[in-house]
Amino acid sequence: MSNYHIKHLEEYYQVYRKSIRNPEVFWEEIAEEHFMWRKKWNNVLSWDFSKPDVKWFEGAQLNITENCIDRHLSTRGNKTAILFEPNNPNEAAQHITYNQLHERVNQFANVLKSKAVKRGDRVCIYLPMIPELAIAVLACARIGAIHSVVFAGFSATALATRINDSDCKLVLTSDGSYRGAKTIDLKGIVDEALEHCPGVQAVLVAKRIDSQISMKTGRDYWLEPLLNKASKVCEAEVMNAEDPLFILYTSGSTGQPKGMVHSTAGYMVYAAYTFKNVFQYRENDVYWCTADIGWITGHSYIVYGPLANGATTVMFEGVPSYPDFGRFWEVVEKHKITQFYTAPTAIRALAKQGVDLVEKYDLSSLKVLGSVGEPINEEAWHWYNDNVGKKKSPIIDTWWQTETGGIMITPIPYVTPTKPTYATLPFIGIQPALMDDNANELKGNQVEGRLCIKYPWPAMARTIWGNHERYKNTYFSAYKNMYFTGDGALRDEVGYYRITGRVDDVIIVSGHNLGTAPIEDAVNEHPAVAESAIVGFPHDIKGNALYGYVILKDTGEGRRHDNLRKEINQIITEHIGPIAKLDKIQFTGGLPKTRSGKIMRRILRKIACKDTSNLGDTSTLLNPEVVQDIINNVL
Ligand code: WTA
Repeated sequence: MSNYHIKHLEEYYQVYRKSIRNPEVFWEEIAEEHFMWRKKWNNVLSWDFSKPDVKWFEGAQLNITENCIDRHLSTRGNKTAILFEPNNPNEAAQHITYNQLHERVNQFANVLKSKAVKRGDRVCIYLPMIPELAIAVLACARIGAIHSVVFAGFSATALATRINDSDCKLVLTSDGSYRGAKTIDLKGIVDEALEHCPGVQAVLVAKRIDSQISMKTGRDYWLEPLLNKASKVCEAEVMNAEDPLFILYTSGSTGQPKGMVHSTAGYMVYAAYTFKNVFQYRENDVYWCTADIGWITGHSYIVYGPLANGATTVMFEGVPSYPDFGRFWEVVEKHKITQFYTAPTAIRALAKQGVDLVEKYDLSSLKVLGSVGEPINEEAWHWYNDNVGKKKSPIIDTWWQTETGGIMITPIPYVTPTKPTYATLPFIGIQPALMDDNANELKGNQVEGRLCIKYPWPAMARTIWGNHERYKNTYFSAYKNMYFTGDGALRDEVGYYRITGRVDDVIIVSGHNLGTAPIEDAVNEHPAVAESAIVGFPHDIKGNALYGYVILKDTGEGRRHDNLRKEINQIITEHIGPIAKLDKIQFTGGLPKTRSGKIMRRILRKIACKDTSNLGDTSTLLNPEVVQDIINNVL
């Protein structure tokens, strides 16, 4: 035994080399020793990136909830599995033990069955960060239904698109949600969405804010009475290794969001193994990831990874600024958090408030500080290191994606020496490659290029729901035999990786991936808008913010531009959600276009960044004169 828990740097290199030399043998050992299988596999891995077709642990049978819950009951039945910290600090936290989780997941699974949900059916989960969300996810997995969690900040239109794309037959939601001092009418949003979702047969509603909502007879049911009368016993459905476990939507640079499909066995093995090592989780630790389960970080590192390791995982319903900007630190002190995992945008927002609110609390329980979602800038890194970690807790800057299912490039705390702004070394089993503009791999150190992965890893997404061709084109067509991440990266003199950012039209705003195309589509819905182009520009707290260039149909109409700006952002909020609102909107007479009619975003990006000294060659433009005009009016 065992390469399951890596404890020093030499061991990392040794295990890494082994995992690369013979990945099948390596992953087979991990899978064999640390999980509960109903049946073992016939074949560890088969793969062909040209199709692409990847299968891990084929022939194996399992249920992921038996690995996340049942197998812990004899040793950890009374240990807290989920520690729920409510939005309101005066409301009591809830400790849900593994025994209780087992009962509640089974009851929930039985309720789903009573509503005719079967193996392979898709269930949309649109819930705030309350225990029912994690329980719903696990209940789906218990019966082999495929969950599709939609972040509860998305609008009705965005929700409807996602429900229809994967043809969900049931929606789980709540009467409403708390968000700091505000409440949000989630059920109202669901009702609006469902006007466009003929396939949805039932809606189960959790009670959270006790608001007056309308319930549609024959379609909508309160969850609680159903749970109360449901049996606490539910046999786990025996799933095949490659059966889809869930769908999770992520933005693409063009078109509709992509429903990334994750497998059961490979995803489980990788989520669990990365969790154990990347957070160096020990038995009595209290681990807290501040993400929402609506994102991949929450799937892998609030629910599946921690529970597969029998960990205590915190679910936080609130926001970092409520009741004040000391909330995170108050929670760390209160629950004696050992591992704290958050996003650079939160760190920047908190840093802006100064150190008083950090120093007010006892943070001495912390051992590991994580960062995820976007590059962490040097200033934020040092603030986090100095004031939260007191220079004692290593910062693990974890790079990964919805598509990768688990962490891919990261330091291992107390193992890998860290370096500000560097995600450092590939995780065990991960073979990164940097590619130049001519699609050649850049060998050696001190190089910069596009980041690809050369070999399959167990948690990689298998397809895009309903559109395998798009999966192939997006990720496997740019470079032969490689998975292309869409990110740029550099490798320094010792082989450490630093992620430099997206190289496509995905913009990461406050850690959320946003594709420009759907936002432009929303803007263009405004009756006064003829055309629009959206680019990102640097923002102190959000990392990037959105800059919209908008051509109006009739500028002579005399409408106030300020009103138009408000209306445009209102439309974006309705179509996507408030996270996609534009920070700046510049009205312009034209957009720089190539002769084939393509908008030259490169130029617009530079202008938005106020970096107009070198705009490159503009002579190939159809309308070079608009460039100066835009520069003259830049906001
Ligand atoms: C970016 C989030 C730099 C990156 C888990 C990636 C990062 C995209 C980091 C995926 C990091 C994530 N440093 N950039 N540590 N982590 N990213 O799908 O551009 O929401 O491609 O998954 O976020 O975002 P997603």
